[in-house]
Amino acid sequence: MRGAVLRTVGEALVISDDLRLRDPGPGEVRVAMRASGVCHSDLSLQNGTLTTGTPLPMTLGHEGSGEVLEVGPGVVGVQPGDHVILAWVPPCGRCTVCLAGQPHLCTEVQESRAGLPSRLSDSAGDIAIGLGVGTFAEETVVPAEAVVPIDKSVPFEVAGLIGCGVMTGVGAVINTAKVEPGSSVAVIGCGGVGINVIQGARLSGASTILAVDRVPAKLETALAFGATHAVISDDAAEATQSLTRGAGFDYVFEVVGRSATIRQAWDMTRRGGAAVIVGAGSATDQVTFSALELFYTERRLLGCFYGSADVRTDFHRLLGLWKAGRLDLTGLVSREVGLDDVNDAFAAMESGEVVRSVVRF
Ligand code: APR
Ligand code: ZN
Repeated sequence: MRGAVLRTVGEALVISDDLRLRDPGPGEVRVAMRASGVCHSDLSLQNGTLTTGTPLPMTLGHEGSGEVLEVGPGVVGVQPGDHVILAWVPPCGRCTVCLAGQPHLCTEVQESRAGLPSRLSDSAGDIAIGLGVGTFAEETVVPAEAVVPIDKSVPFEVAGLIGCGVMTGVGAVINTAKVEPGSSVAVIGCGGVGINVIQGARLSGASTILAVDRVPAKLETALAFGATHAVISDDAAEATQSLTRGAGFDYVFEVVGRSATIRQAWDMTRRGGAAVIVGAGSATDQVTFSALELFYTERRLLGCFYGSADVRTDFHRLLGLWKAGRLDLTGLVSREVGLDDVNDAFAAMESGEVVRSVVRF
């Protein structure tokens, strides 16, 4: 089968057509991919901004949907023919973290898989499955906890986007920050994830939603998705002054993943407000805060991993909002591309040309 493999950091993904997947073992399912969004975290893995600690080669892709082909021994709750969204953090549902209501931080399923035979290989040897799901391949084998069955009437490209960008963006607002109606919100970085932060802020009843991006075209998109104001990055301080009388926003979402924009988000947050860090940045990129300001401003700095989601219920909540016409998912798809075009999709994302490219299989 075919798939896009990262062999060397900094080099283009190699489209291989001799990948072999082993059969699903106990607790695993085999999925035929139908759609996979191209998320910035894939690009960050390719260019080395993000590292997972898993040795290369590795398939990438973590935002996808597909159809279950086969289930291994002991799998309950999902069967061949089911349409599913893949979840790149599979919650075990039993550990203290899951039971305490933070299933997005569960590591049990991933840890329990250490030592299992590699699921993927080619003639040269084993290949890792990126972020545990590897959606840039025609098929994948994943733990059953990593698939969430959905209604078959949902188009695959719509479903796929929920698997990362939509869940992360909307979840940052409704789960992590819990934005209240009437709040003032600013969003720095209006790409595939940031646009969904804007949609989440609109759903939460925010009265002011300022979109900030370095690419002018993204500001138009942001306004179409519910931002009430939009400015280019250099004008963000002035907009904060005029929209909040200098006090700062109740919530500022950083959706880029860089120290400079994290610091900018912090500076745009009001005393007592919250800066929410959604972007996935590098381990070596340091952000600085003075000891005084942390104390005196009483701003909260909220990390946000996978939209603080419970994928088992939240994917359905988001689909419900989409069905009700309150969450635009089809409008997020700027381009549908083939697996061969995945490197071009990375370039289009880097230059800010697209909200999302979606690979169709
Ligand atoms: N200031 C403002 N906007 C910026 C800046 C900056 N300095 N640098 C980049 N941007 C904008 C881009 O123009 C783009 O619109 O941020 C947006 C990023 O969007 P995408 O490339 O579509 O990335 P996305 O998939 O949304 O991911 C954003 O969240 O999940 C993480 O790893 C992901 O860190 C990444 C972030
Ligand atoms: Zn992602």
